[in-house]
Formats: sequence, C-alpha cells, structure tokens
Amino acid sequence: MLPFMLPLLAGLTIPVAATAAGPAACTKIATELGSAKVNANQLSTNYTNSLEYWNTIQDEYKPSCIVFPSSAQDVSVSLKAIRAAGSRFAIKAGGHNPNTFFSSVQAGVLLDLSSMTAKSYDPETTLATYEPGGIFGDVYEYFAQWNRTVVGARLAGVGTGLALGGGMSYLSPQYGLACDSFRELEIVLPDGQIVTASDKENPDLFFASRGGGGNAYGVVTKYTVQSRPIGEFWAGNLIYVADQRDSVIEAIGNFIQYNTDPKAAIIGTYEKLPLPDLNLNLDEAILMFLVYDGPNPGDAFKNFTDIKALIDTTGIKSYNEVVNMPVPMSTEISRGANMFRVGVHRPQNNSYEKALDKWRTWAEDNKGSYELLSIDFQPIPKSLTDASKAQGGNAMQMPDGPYFWLNYLITTPPGMTEAKYNAAQASYRDMIKETGNDEGLPLFINDANKDQNPLQTFSTFKKLQAIKKKYDPDNFFADYTGGWSFA
Ligand SMILES: Cc1cc2nc3c(=O)[nH]c(=O)nc-3n(C[C@H](O)[C@H](O)[C@H](O)COP(=O)(O)OP(=O)(O)OC[C@H]3O[C@@H](n4cnc5c(N)ncnc54)[C@H](O)[C@@H]3O)c2cc1C
Ligand SMILES: *[C@@H]1O[C@H](CO)[C@@H](O)[C@H](O)[C@H]1NC(C)=O
Ligand SMILES: *[C@@H]1O[C@H](CO)[C@@H](O)[C@H](O)[C@H]1NC(C)=O
Ligand SMILES: *[C@@H]1O[C@H](CO)[C@@H](O)[C@H](O)[C@H]1NC(C)=O
Ligand SMILES: *[C@@H]1O[C@H](CO)[C@@H](O)[C@H](O)[C@H]1NC(C)=O
Repeated sequence: MLPFMLPLLAGLTIPVAATAAGPAACTKIATELGSAKVNANQLSTNYTNSLEYWNTIQDEYKPSCIVFPSSAQDVSVSLKAIRAAGSRFAIKAGGHNPNTFFSSVQAGVLLDLSSMTAKSYDPETTLATYEPGGIFGDVYEYFAQWNRTVVGARLAGVGTGLALGGGMSYLSPQYGLACDSFRELEIVLPDGQIVTASDKENPDLFFASRGGGGNAYGVVTKYTVQSRPIGEFWAGNLIYVADQRDSVIEAIGNFIQYNTDPKAAIIGTYEKLPLPDLNLNLDEAILMFLVYDGPNPGDAFKNFTDIKALIDTTGIKSYNEVVNMPVPMSTEISRGANMFRVGVHRPQNNSYEKALDKWRTWAEDNKGSYELLSIDFQPIPKSLTDASKAQGGNAMQMPDGPYFWLNYLITTPPGMTEAKYNAAQASYRDMIKETGNDEGLPLFINDANKDQNPLQTFSTFKKLQAIKKKYDPDNFFADYTGGWSFA
C-alpha cells in the first residue's frame, strides 16, 4: 500500500545475519512447537490477518514467520530459539503502538500473542486474571458477567500492551492506571526463564512492569489484577463546531484544575481535517468524551453541557457501550499512517490554551501534510495519583496531580512521498518541542514517539536502567527488538 515506506522506516540497524537468522529461528521453533503454531506462508490468511497494525505502515513488513504461542512455555521455547539464531523479533499484543518495530518486524520472528486469551475470576478474592491476547473489549465482556471489570483501555479495540505502558482508563481517577491494579504477573524473561513478579517475588521486575513499558524486561504471559465493580454509567460524546473552541478549552482547563469527583472522567479532543478552511471553520471539530461511573453526574460536566453542542449522545450506558464511544470499532476505523506524540503540562498559566493555539496554527499552516490531526487533553487528577500511591505507586512514581497528558496524532495521507512524510513528521515534532513540557512530570509512554525517550523523564529512570540491566543482561531485547531507549 505504501511501498516507499519500507526503505524509509526499515532504517533501523538490522543485524546483517537477520535474513538467514529469521528462517533459522522459525525452523527451530516449528520443530519444537509443531508447525500448527508457526506460519511462514505469506499468502495464508492467518499470516496476513496478523499483520494488521493501527499504524498501517507496519503492515508492509514481512516477518520470516509468525509464531502463535499458546502458553508461557511456548514463549520460552521461542525466545530461546530466536536468541540462539540471533534473529530479530517482535512481540505483538493488540498492535496499536504506532512506533515502527515496537510490535512489528521485518525478516525476523513475530510472536503474535493473540491465541493466549484465557481469563478467570475469583469471587472470593475479587482478583481477575487475563492473558495478553485479544483486545480489552473482550476482556471487559468476560468480567461483566460478575458486574466487574479490570482497569484497561478507554476504547474496546486496544490491546493489553496498554497496561504495560501505564494504561489510562475512564476509571483511572478512582483506581489509578491499569498497571496500578496489577497484583502478580507471569513473565518469560529474555533468557527463557518463566518467573512470577509481584510485591513478594522479583519485586524490582514487578515495579518496572507497572508502567515501565512492554518489550523491555520480558514477555508478560499472564496478568493477575484487582478487579473493580461496574454498574450503570452516565456517558456520551458532545460534538461542537469550531465557534465553541474557546469556551470548550476553558471548560477543559477548569475541569483539569477544579473537578474533584473521581467518578468523572473526560477526554477533550480537537480535530483538524484536510479540507481548505475558506473561513467557514468546517475543517475543525471538537469531540468531548464525558464518562461518569454512576447514573447521576451531578454538576461534574455542567461546564460542558452548558455549551451548545451540535451532537449530544449523553445518557445512561453500560460499560460496554462506554468503551465503544464514539462509535463501535473506532480503533479499526482509524487505522492509517498514524503517529503519536505526547506532551505533559500543569494547568497553570493557561498552558492548555497555549498548547491548543500552537497546534492549531501548525494545522492551518500545514494543510496537505495530514489526513487527520488531533490533540487530546487527558486530565491526571490528584485522585488518580493518590490511588496509584495507595497501591504502591508505579514505575513513574507519579508526582501529585493535577496535570494533563496531551496526545498529538498525525495521520499522513496515503501516497505521500518519502521526503514529504519526513518533512511533515519533523515539522510536527518541532512544533510540539517548542510547546515544551513542564519540568518534573513524566511523559506518558503509551502516547509517546520513540524519539521522545519518555523513560528519561521518569524520576525512577536510574532504577529502571538497573532493572533492565539485571533482567536483560546481554542486551538481547535491547538489540533484537524495538522499544524505548534506556540509554
Ligand atoms: C485508537 C487508540 C486508542 C488508545 N486508547 C488508549 C487509552 O485509552 N489508554 C491508554 O493508556 N492508551 C491508549 N492508547 C495507546 C495504547 O496504550 C498503546 O498504543 C499501546 O501500546 C497499545 O497496546 P497494544 O497491545 O494494542 O499494542 P502492541 O503494539 O501490540 O503492544 C504495545 C507494546 O507493548 C509490547 N507488548 C505488548 N504485549 C506485551 C507482553 N505481553 N509482554 C511484553 N511486551 C508486550 C509490544 O511489543 C509493543 O512494544 C490508544 C491507542 C490507540 C491507537
Ligand atoms: C491458521 O489458521 C488455521 C485455520 O484457520 C489453523 O488451523 C491454524 O492452526 C492457524 N495457525 C497457523 C500457525 O497456521
Ligand atoms: C449485575 O447487575 C445487574 C443489574 O443491577 C443485576 O440484575 C445482576 O443480578 C448482577 N449480576 C451479578 C452476578 O451480580
Ligand atoms: C466549572 O467552571 C467554573 C468556572 O467557570 C469553575 O469554578 C468550576 O470549578 C468548574 N467545574 C468543574 C467541575 O470543572
Ligand atoms: C506560571 O507563571 C509564573 C510567572 O511567570 C511562574 O512563576 C510559574 O512557575 C508558572 N507556573 C507553571 C506551573 O508553569
């Protein structure tokens, strides 16, 4: 689809032996796991189905084979074979991380975790377990039979890799990030050992895995988490036209600073379309997500509902309906040449207005560089950071809220030349750099671009470096798969 992307994005250092090493690893794995779990046929349906990424540029990479492990043991055998052959590899859960080579691989082994979907619930302890395959929508549907859920994605279509990067949920202001609810993980280490990580066993590994990123310290093959109750929600989207831009950003800023009800969560998103503006403002829309855990939000969202909206879908919803806002399948519909960047700010000094202005100016000046552009405001209230702390704190050791994470999306048009693609990405990057970030706050890795080196913004960076060194001592993961830099 975008053939020019291959030479562009395959520019990572791929070891010279990779082309021979991939097939060698595949042969070994097929011998040990049986051919039913290893697919090297590029024309078969489950090979091509597996190569669906939210950043579709990655759909073009061709692994030497795709391995579909069904247990930690299978993952262990695979990692040992990959290591012995010196092959590149990638670990894929839901495939939504847009950074190339994080869950995709060219001429190496793709470990597709999609067959690992076992789940369980213990009503006595209220602990839930899930394996890394599948999407959060399926995970939620399973636990809903007990009126319970796990803290995970806000959109049903996202995969479980989200939790290893922290994981922002509509429930996070009450319970912390997805990773804060981890109680025990089963992890296959880079050397193939299968271990447990919890407060008691390998607590350093447990610490790093709570928001310190996927594909760094091993492969998580089972999550044991504290489940949470769910009932009726009051939720929906408000869509505003551009005329309401200033009122809505003011309401977002006030919500970030003053909302104290932990059952209330929002995402504020501004979108720009490629249409010419023509002073009609039809190229811009504002999409608010309002979610209240309970049937009556009181005045929590009054600042938004008081602004006249073009479309209003708010009302009583089940959790399943909440995670399918604005429309079911929205993660699938939004597949494309997508890239994320992240920002973090405290709400003082109208930082939210400044960030929005800067982004809008770029959007107006760079028509033709994007098919879709958005900026999302994601509040981190003090209740969230308190809930995180109360559970031991995560790999970010989050400073007290309130602050907010910005997610900047750029979807480039299909067929863009390589030079234009590079120029658009670099220019978007520079604009975001100029906006700057507030000191002492962590960049959210789930929304980060690889070149933003988010781990370096964590106060725990040195500790994470040491843990990485301990569990990946010979740099097997660091050198043979993509991921965040520890340097
Ligand atoms: C449409 C959309 C909506 C989103 N909504 C949210 C949201 O509400 N909240 C939020 O926090 N983030 C959200 N994100 C960001 C999302 O959390 C990241 O993109 C995340 O990386 C996706 O995980 P995945 O399993 O789908 O992707 P993958 O690309 O499969 O995995 C992400 C990374 O983790 C690694 N990994 C995955 N599973 C394992 C494992 N078991 N062991 C070791 N490493 C592993 C992969 O190698 C990869 O590097 C959203 C992204 C998109 C595109
Ligand atoms: C591929 O799909 C077929 C049938 O849909 C299934 O039998 C097989 O186990 C799958 N996996 C691999 C690795 O081919
Ligand atoms: C879940 O909640 C519904 C609605 O309140 C109730 O009818 C049902 O009995 C509950 N199920 C369980 C397993 O508690
Ligand atoms: C709504 O906005 C007003 C200022 O106009 C502010 O005082 C109030 O705290 C805001 N409420 C919420 C929940 O954001
Ligand atoms: C806001 O601006 C004041 C005055 O310039 C400055 O002292 C303060 O540090 C700023 N606060 C933040 C959070 O940026």
